[in-house]
Amino acid sequence: MMTPSDVKATLSFSDGSPSMELPLYKGSVGPDVIDIRKLYGQTGKFTYDPGFLSTASCNSTITYIDGDKGELLYRGYPIEQLAQNCDFLEVCHLLIYGDLPNQEERVKFVKNITYHTMVNEQMQFFLRGFRRDAHPMAVMTGLVGALSAFYHDSTDVHNPQHREIAAHRLIAKMPTLVAMSYKYGVGQPFIYPKNSLSYTGNFMRMMFATPCEDYEPNEVLVRAMDRIFILHADHEQNASTSTVRLCGSSGTNPFAAIAAGVACLWGPAHGGANEAALQMLEDIQRNGGVEKIGEFIKQVKDKNSSVKLMGFGHRVYKNYDPRAKLMRETCHEVLNALGLHDDPLFKLAMALEKIALEDDYFVSRKLYPNVDFYSGIVQRAIGIPVSLFTAIFALARTVGWIAQLNEMIGDPEYKIGRPRQLYVGAAPRQVRPIGER
Ligand code: SDX
Repeated sequence: MMTPSDVKATLSFSDGSPSMELPLYKGSVGPDVIDIRKLYGQTGKFTYDPGFLSTASCNSTITYIDGDKGELLYRGYPIEQLAQNCDFLEVCHLLIYGDLPNQEERVKFVKNITYHTMVNEQMQFFLRGFRRDAHPMAVMTGLVGALSAFYHDSTDVHNPQHREIAAHRLIAKMPTLVAMSYKYGVGQPFIYPKNSLSYTGNFMRMMFATPCEDYEPNEVLVRAMDRIFILHADHEQNASTSTVRLCGSSGTNPFAAIAAGVACLWGPAHGGANEAALQMLEDIQRNGGVEKIGEFIKQVKDKNSSVKLMGFGHRVYKNYDPRAKLMRETCHEVLNALGLHDDPLFKLAMALEKIALEDDYFVSRKLYPNVDFYSGIVQRAIGIPVSLFTAIFALARTVGWIAQLNEMIGDPEYKIGRPRQLYVGAAPRQVRPIGER
């Protein structure tokens, strides 16, 4: 709910152009916003904010982040409480419908998701078009977009029933598609969903079972994977969510809009950071381990090196990412459960974190570990290959993308997103005949 503030902003110009008053709005918590929707119409001027560091693109009721406090709420619930007390499908219900399910709602929602986990048999032929060593995010970008070819009965985003069935299908099928992209890469047969298993237990079985023997998911690893899904489910207007909103604002179908989010998440500055963070740790380990951290940190500080401490820093969190704390706890649990508490990479990560948190270069820039710093170590311990880390992130973030897309489309005031620019190119000029160019 946007509440008009008593405070107004006055914009005046030193060249005597007419000043204007801009209304402010208050949210339920967090920074107020200055409503500039009439600015261009009244002044003929645009605002300028590449990277959107000071821009609120929408109003939303889904996720709130306080970067200074290191706070993350899904529909008002602190992420710590959700991670401790709920499973991923309960969080999906929360994000999609606005509240945690009661027992009856939970049973109904789990059934709806469970009975949509299979994909059309034709989907396997899309996979067969890829090389076996294709990056899973290249495969997932293709597969998610391809889903729109199979559900002509639910592509009208303006129809709430279509939005709901598309949401169920996407949440349900992402684990199947991610597991298929993994199996295709390792040359093993695809494993079909098994409805008697939990959402995450079913994912682990599709990933690691083979037709040759029975497979029982390890409940400690299932719980860890489920928590990874919860921690990655939504995160306000990040790059991939903004991509989904902008793509969906044209009225395209939900599958195409989510495919755009998958493509954006792949980048190493965003969802690709967990893969990059683990590769960074493996490189340091290969080049001497803890003793070599000092040399690595020197490279990071050297502006000419373009080396970044992957898994550190965040556009919003200028304090510790609350998800990183929970991920580090999960690391301890999983490594202890697997008897890997002496895992050299985990020890290296904790040593690197300790050094970075005491080094003024990072402290002065408020660079703290983010969700990606520890998630790679947990996934590696569970047996997930590094190249699949971002696909797992996409699996988890699909529910957040859908909730944000549906919130936008469900707002009667929404418009197609169409930003403007500051043009600094050539002034109008005449085309000359080629002989005179
Ligand atoms: C995710 O937005 C979200 O919510 C994303 C996400 C989600 O859930 O959707 O939280 C998921 O994407 C987490 C972020 C994962 N990315 C990484 O871990 C990659 C490494 N981090 C950086 O690329 C960077 O911190 C960003 C992209 C995350 C944020 O960059 P900003 O906000 O644009 O900050 P910046 O690049 O302007 O950096 C400010 C300063 C610069 O130094 P100076 O020019 O001031 O001297 O900090 C430095 C940067 O060089 N810096 C780093 C650094 N991150 C920023 N220096 C070394 N290592 C880093 N990781």
